[in-house]
Amino acid sequence: MPEIKFVAADGKERIVSCPVGTTVMKCAQMNAISGIYAECGGQRMCATCHVYVDEAFLSTLPPMSVDEDEMLEATASDRMPNSRLSCAIIVQPEHENLVVHLPEFQR
Ligand code: FES
Repeated sequence: MPEIKFVAADGKERIVSCPVGTTVMKCAQMNAISGIYAECGGQRMCATCHVYVDEAFLSTLPPMSVDEDEMLEATASDRMPNSRLSCAIIVQPEHENLVVHLPEFQR
């Protein structure tokens, strides 16, 4: 199971194991990571699962869908080039040591 590091806006870090095939959002919820609200349950309709993905892992992510791209225009914290919806990132073996930074605000 890949280990993923969640870094809060205040710099606090947590490393958790995430099953391959789940989403980064679900893994965050399973491990009570604060700062991921995921109000729509992963339907790409809320943008409260916004994360900033470490640049080194951007090439391992699935292509961004039109829906995700549109939702990222509605994030509470600024959208950055490495912004993604964590519900759109399905954990893969190559995500070992993936680092995601949580935005200061989700709503
Ligand atoms: S959980 Fe709502 S967009 Fe990801």
